[in-house]
Amino acid sequence: MNKVICIDGPSGSGKSTTAHAVSERLGVLFVDSGALYRIMTWQCLLAGVDTSDPAAVAAFCRGVKVAFVVKGNRVAYEVGGEEPGDRIRTPEINAHVSPVSAVPEVRAIVTGWLRKMPELGDIVVEGRDIGSIVYPDSKYRFYLDCDPDERARRRQKEDAGKGFVQTEAQVKASLLARDKIDSSRKTAPLKIPEGAIVIDTTRLSVDGVVDAIASHLG
Ligand code: DC
Repeated sequence: MNKVICIDGPSGSGKSTTAHAVSERLGVLFVDSGALYRIMTWQCLLAGVDTSDPAAVAAFCRGVKVAFVVKGNRVAYEVGGEEPGDRIRTPEINAHVSPVSAVPEVRAIVTGWLRKMPELGDIVVEGRDIGSIVYPDSKYRFYLDCDPDERARRRQKEDAGKGFVQTEAQVKASLLARDKIDSSRKTAPLKIPEGAIVIDTTRLSVDGVVDAIASHLG
């Protein structure tokens, strides 16, 4: 099987930036698992599905079709022939994605998609349950942690760049609310995978985090 590098952690811990940098430095494909839960949420909202109704979400998500296309050093997702881009990164999606991703049927569909990705090449996958549930047998499993204030500072800056104006306090409240749902849900909660290498990114540069990961890859 192709190499699978798993990077888990809470929102704003630096997973996405790190996984992009790992993909570039090591020439492996970048896979964003959160984007798949965001696509499910986006499609539910477009179709007027009540995201607080797990049965309705499960029934609807069974019919969502996503195409997986290698573009440069990433696996891109296309819905209806196009990539959703920042339409899946709005505060509205942020507010609905945790309940959608807590639905077991949705997790089963996304996990099935993710397990097929190594057919496309060596991959680095970032998410919440990648080293614990999706690829528990991977030799390369990492968990990134970070102080909540620093996470809020990073995420606010990132969101501002996309035109979403929020205070750091609002961003921190949204992050902590999502952490709470993500860590306490019954199916595949966010947790440190057994045997994963934990890296605290609070005071590390991106290069520093990638160095730490690369040093464990052998
Ligand atoms: O990483 P992100 O913020 O784009 O993730 C969006 C949401 O999806 C997040 O609130 C938790 C959920 N998620 C998940 O449950 N499991 C994953 N492997 C990735 C994301």
